[in-house]
Amino acid sequence: MPHSTNQLRDLDRRHVWHPFTHMRQWIDGDPLVITAAQGMHLIDSDGNRYLDAVSSLWCNVHGHRVPEIDAAVRAQLDKVAHTTMLGLASEPATLLAERLMRLVPQNLKKVFYSDSGATATEVAFKLAAQYWFNVGRPEKNAFVGFADAYHGDTVGAMSVGRMPAFHAPHFPMLFPAHFAPSPYVYRSDSPGDPQAVSRQCLAALDRILTEHGPSIAAVCLEPIVQGAGGIIVHPEGFLRGVADLARRHDVLLIADEVAVGFGRTGRMFACEHEGVEPDLMCVAKGITGGYLPLAATFATQKIFDAFLGEPWEGRTFFHGHTYTGNPLAAAAALASLDLFDKNNVVAGVQKKSTDLAKMLAPLRDLPHVGDIRQKGFMVGIELVADKETRRPFDPKRRVGAQVCLACRQHGVIVRPLGDVIVLMPPLAMGVEDLRKIVAAVEAEIAKLT
Ligand SMILES: Cc1ncc(COP(=O)(O)O)c(C=O)c1O
Repeated sequence: MPHSTNQLRDLDRRHVWHPFTHMRQWIDGDPLVITAAQGMHLIDSDGNRYLDAVSSLWCNVHGHRVPEIDAAVRAQLDKVAHTTMLGLASEPATLLAERLMRLVPQNLKKVFYSDSGATATEVAFKLAAQYWFNVGRPEKNAFVGFADAYHGDTVGAMSVGRMPAFHAPHFPMLFPAHFAPSPYVYRSDSPGDPQAVSRQCLAALDRILTEHGPSIAAVCLEPIVQGAGGIIVHPEGFLRGVADLARRHDVLLIADEVAVGFGRTGRMFACEHEGVEPDLMCVAKGITGGYLPLAATFATQKIFDAFLGEPWEGRTFFHGHTYTGNPLAAAAALASLDLFDKNNVVAGVQKKSTDLAKMLAPLRDLPHVGDIRQKGFMVGIELVADKETRRPFDPKRRVGAQVCLACRQHGVIVRPLGDVIVLMPPLAMGVEDLRKIVAAVEAEIAKLT
């Protein structure tokens, strides 16, 4: 006997602690219980269908229940569900590595698997610090991050990220890092001049690197778009500027492509927009098409070589996770990459994102829309109380959350970042579904007073 919606809700409220969720409100509310999905739709326990406009937290690529990925996972299940990569090679993880190497910036030669975005960035920080240790410069062990950056919720990731709204209670337990300002043009002193904002931020980064370069291991950046910070789209040339400064000051560049990788911005990887080759690159989310947890940190040959030596020399990277390189996840990733080719997914994002931009344009005239930022299939609509002064709404009103909740009545699931309404549709979503999402969001924003 399947459980009723009310039974499932009761069990959830009694036992489950949800991520990034105000549990007081959750317990008092009537949560949607998702029991199935089909294509672009999530289906709840009462059979209602909703467009998945958050790509199930920014990871879904081809939609749900994709026959080719389902079949690949089933076929792998008939071989083995999980074997360790500690001291053993694994067929799908090996084949996936070879496949990924053809896609990533060509200076990257090795892949270290893990299972989430946070583990991918954590691995990058540890690799960067140990790289300098191994080459005889252990004093280079500090990091530079950016304001509003998000790299995940583990301690290293929180230390190099800077999101007080999420992590303030944990600041005392973090390791110290340097922070450069991020080019959040709309909230800067020169909202009409993105290049001036970019120059100011790069100058600040240059000052940090000039003063502290000898003790810095790496600069870490979400290339082109800072996701969780509010879909902050960087001015053209900013990524290139950061890469040049890292090179000039002899620090490594870590590109956190967890959110922007796998086609999200209209290129396979966001670094491609400015021809940047990072020393370390982190991916997760879209790597399996949004099916299963898998992440990867890519490194250059030079970094990898610094870890070679006799076992007693202490150069080995002693890091790993139980499910690192899980075969089911790797099989899903291989099938997903086949679909990227077969369906020309990245070119599709480029084309459809132009349509999406046209759909969004009229929203700029709504009285409470302060800014609309878009790169590919990443959209942030920043709501403000006063358009003239850019004054935000009182956070207690939770305007972004209310708008998103109301969109459910239109059959659309969206999630805000504060008062930024985020649209992050699966890359395979068609124009008609995109139109429904924009219409729902527009209707609900228009009701704001
Ligand atoms: C840029 C970036 N890095 C890291 C992460 C953390 O990924 P995960 O939630 O898989 O740990 C995220 C998640 O949103 C992200 O956007």
